[in-house]
Amino acid sequence: MSHRIGIIAGDGIGPEVIAEALKVVDATGVEYDAVPYDLSGANYLRTGEVLPDSVLDELRGMDAILLGAVGTPEVPPGVLERGLLLRMRFELDLYINLRPFAAPAGELNDGVDMVVIRENTEGTYAGEGGFLRKGTPHEVATQGSVNTRLGVERCVRFAFDLAATRPRRHLTLVHKTNVLTFAGDLWQRTFNEVASEHADIATGYDHVDAACIHFVQRPERYDVIVTDNLFGDILTDLGGAIAGGIGRAASANLNPARTGPSLFEPVHGSAPDIAGTGAADPRAAVISAGMMLEFLGETEAAARVKKAVEGSDDASGSTAEIGSRIAERV
Ligand code: IPM
Ligand code: MN
Repeated sequence: MSHRIGIIAGDGIGPEVIAEALKVVDATGVEYDAVPYDLSGANYLRTGEVLPDSVLDELRGMDAILLGAVGTPEVPPGVLERGLLLRMRFELDLYINLRPFAAPAGELNDGVDMVVIRENTEGTYAGEGGFLRKGTPHEVATQGSVNTRLGVERCVRFAFDLAATRPRRHLTLVHKTNVLTFAGDLWQRTFNEVASEHADIATGYDHVDAACIHFVQRPERYDVIVTDNLFGDILTDLGGAIAGGIGRAASANLNPARTGPSLFEPVHGSAPDIAGTGAADPRAAVISAGMMLEFLGETEAAARVKKAVEGSDDASGSTAEIGSRIAERV
């Protein structure tokens, strides 16, 4: 059966890394129909539209979405983030943002093998808040954090289920319960309740600031981490930095209930400064495409992609050269 995959290549290095990701998917022999969508900063500057409702409805009919990166310096902050990326996460109910980090022992640490499960539809990202007396000396700006029992619980349950499939069977909650005593309390109570149903999973808790130290000094402490949206955003950039660089950080925005497509994208942005130079590392996009194959049930192809990327450490050269080397190994 052929999969229908919506392709949002985007801006900057987005199209370059997506081309390599598709090269690698092609090498697996998995059949798919690529449906390209010109959703990008460049398209916004041309048309004034970020994500028309009709396009969002079309995307709902895809089996998966593969996204490169969006953003151009001319577009003000928030337009594409809120209008495209977050809108898709919310509207398609992509409530899990799964970000794996793996690297052999090296200069920075004794090796990394962890997965961060970031809640992807709530927290400060929900957009609660606003201005009062904007632009005056008495201006007030608030930005709340939305945490629902349903949202927290479905995320925590996903993390426990994932931990149960990994050899270490360990799950750490990362939050800031000593200061965020309302949201943190809901997270901790939910975590403890779900933990009581999973006697076979060892659990831990770290404050997010302490987790930053552990990421740098002894990341081997972690197997699976579950955390809130904003903490997960920050922590996963750090995760990229300690595990081979942001050029290898991949992500899956999942709708585990499968009521619509899930979306796969590298963690990095559009990097306009290196666009067109061939300097972009396509591995984050390739790994993301591999996670897409896995979620689509193409388990064997996904395993081949994973192995090919892992074996590509010696591959250097341009974006296209690295992509070709990985494709050859698939
Ligand atoms: C990420 C990005 C996004 C986020 C931005 C671009 C909206 O930083 O996927 O980590 O904050 O989630
Ligand atoms: Mn981020």
